[in-house]
Amino acid sequence: MVKPVAMDISDWNKWHQEYEDSNSELAHRARLVQKQVVAVVDTRAPSPVSIVSICGGQGRELFGALEDHPRRGEITGRLVELDPDNAAHAREWAHRAGMDALQVVNADASLSETYDNLGRADLVILSGVFGHIDEKDQKRTVSFLREICDTDSTVVWTSYEVRPERTAFIESCFNENDFERVAFELTPNDTFGVVVERNQGIPLPLRLNRKIFSFGSSRKRREPGRSTNTDDSGG
Ligand SMILES: C[S@@+](CC[C@H](N)C(=O)[O-])C[C@H]1O[C@@H](n2cnc3c(N)ncnc32)[C@H](O)[C@@H]1O
Repeated sequence: MVKPVAMDISDWNKWHQEYEDSNSELAHRARLVQKQVVAVVDTRAPSPVSIVSICGGQGRELFGALEDHPRRGEITGRLVELDPDNAAHAREWAHRAGMDALQVVNADASLSETYDNLGRADLVILSGVFGHIDEKDQKRTVSFLREICDTDSTVVWTSYEVRPERTAFIESCFNENDFERVAFELTPNDTFGVVVERNQGIPLPLRLNRKIFSFGSSRKRREPGRSTNTDDSGG
């Protein structure tokens, strides 16, 4: 039986400290995501590869994966992060890695206009997002992906395997939207999954001025008496 993970979510900058323990489940998850990010870049035709990281934090799964990659200068797209310190961290990392063609924006990833003037993403990363939003938001977020992806684009998302029923629900949303699962890997203690989906459907036009999710909506159902500063809803 996999134990729930309680994490401090009062400060999203401090939250990233858990990555310093290279044996933590979070660090293992990041490495699995990074592996998939490299796999996408390796298999895309030699032209710019557009990557969108939704709630991208400090950019671990993106710059951590590609900072030494020979094609890092060809990466375009956008990392969207609300915490200003995390966004600054990610922007500095992008610069150091020679990846300035990818925009790091300190903005609200839940608003559709944040993805305006971007073009179609070859790869979208949602790491540590679905566990923090409720089913309605999960459904809306998955269908929104068709507005920023092309046919054949890849989505890499992380699941919280302490609650496998949630993974099944999110997967059903992907299926309803013509995505097909192409890979799934677990962290060593089975806490997190890393899921790779390929878009088999036709892309949809981006509709502006919409709220796609409310980060933290999954906690609204929390029973009374629990701390508001810790979370076991999915890293
Ligand atoms: C669980 S962390 C995941 C960070 C990163 N993707 C990772 O896996 O390391 C969630 C991140 O989402 C960011 N965040 C929360 N609400 C957001 C929003 N509305 N728009 C953009 N980022 C948001 C937080 O600041 C935090 O860095």
